[in-house]
Amino acid sequence: MENKILRVGIIGMGRISGAHIDGLKKAEDVKIVAVCDIDEQKLNAAGDRLEIAPEYRFTDYHDLISCDIVDAVEICTPNYLHVQMACDVICAGKPVNIEKPLSDTYEKVPALLELLEKYPQPNMICFSYRFLPAVRYARKLIGEGKIGKILTVNIEYLQSGSFVEGRRMEWRFVKSKSGTGAIGDLGVHLIDMTRYLIGEITSVCARKRTFVKQRKMLDSDIIGDVTTDDYCSFLADIEGGAVANFTVTRCAHGHSNTIKYDIFGTDGVISFNLNDPWELWLCLGIEEVKTVGLHRISVPEEYLASQEQSFVDIALGRFKEEAADIKEGAVCQKIVDAVALSSDENRWIDIV
Ligand SMILES: NC(=O)c1ccc[n+]([C@@H]2O[C@H](COP(=O)([O-])OP(=O)(O)OC[C@H]3O[C@@H](n4cnc5c(N)ncnc54)[C@H](O)[C@@H]3O)[C@@H](O)[C@H]2O)c1
Repeated sequence: MENKILRVGIIGMGRISGAHIDGLKKAEDVKIVAVCDIDEQKLNAAGDRLEIAPEYRFTDYHDLISCDIVDAVEICTPNYLHVQMACDVICAGKPVNIEKPLSDTYEKVPALLELLEKYPQPNMICFSYRFLPAVRYARKLIGEGKIGKILTVNIEYLQSGSFVEGRRMEWRFVKSKSGTGAIGDLGVHLIDMTRYLIGEITSVCARKRTFVKQRKMLDSDIIGDVTTDDYCSFLADIEGGAVANFTVTRCAHGHSNTIKYDIFGTDGVISFNLNDPWELWLCLGIEEVKTVGLHRISVPEEYLASQEQSFVDIALGRFKEEAADIKEGAVCQKIVDAVALSSDENRWIDIV
């Protein structure tokens, strides 16, 4: 598929599709040619905005996947649909970009990995924070050994979405559709970032909670039970001996979307808050630790990467170092499931 325009179809025209559309509009060598949603209102709103002809607006995702003018597919639907849809795209012989987390449960994942092994296709999973300049620059500095051997990591993902007044029982609060709550929604980004920056997570011990326990159903005022977590803290062992301390929550008043990350090594420290994606706070090397202290630097401009451009490039056969693929999504899903199980069973779980 070298040297051509990639014609993309998007399944799921909800909240996150807006970021995909914006990213694809700014990307090179790509055009959005088809959209799909079971909700005709959302489908047509997106179709109108993108000026897509009625015959390329689909309510059945199979029709979008098999559509002749679609070269590659992006999946932006609730978690429980990702694996089946990805399998269908791969069977159609097309590249696929899947929103995170890979699935609602790891149980579904081996079938997808087997299919991909048999019928390889370019693929990506949207661990969006990998593309931010602070994260990519931190990875470079850590890779160069600038803070020595990593000892400990503190990571927080803070949102307040559980407290939004009147929020109903959308799929995120339903275990059969989402799998986990804050763990898979927010925690999976941190799990990926930790693997990307530091190394493989080998074992976890967690405590999860559901603080907002009931909500009105989507289509009636009947009250139902929330079946996913909205808070989780967990410890993780990382290969090489480091220990990471994670907190993910949708119950943090005052935070709409905050990610804080501190990495402490034998020879220094790197900290960032992704509300300021162009800044790192750091001490690099023992001399700086002793004399300069923690100081702010601006990240060089070349460290910005685009998630959507990366998918286009991958689909067109160009390697992208910063992007995660389905195999990495699978590892992260295994860890998400282990975190939830660890809390349920009150014990450490090894990731095998
Ligand atoms: N990368 C990120 O940072 C990030 C951020 C937000 C959401 N997400 C992920 O994106 C996915 C979607 O989240 P969202 O917030 O956009 O949810 P959403 O509920 O706003 O949108 C989902 C859309 O999928 C549609 N849909 C449901 N079943 C369908 C089907 N069978 N065929 C076609 N369309 C179908 C729904 O009608 C809805 O419009 C989730 O997996 C979520 O975890 C990722």
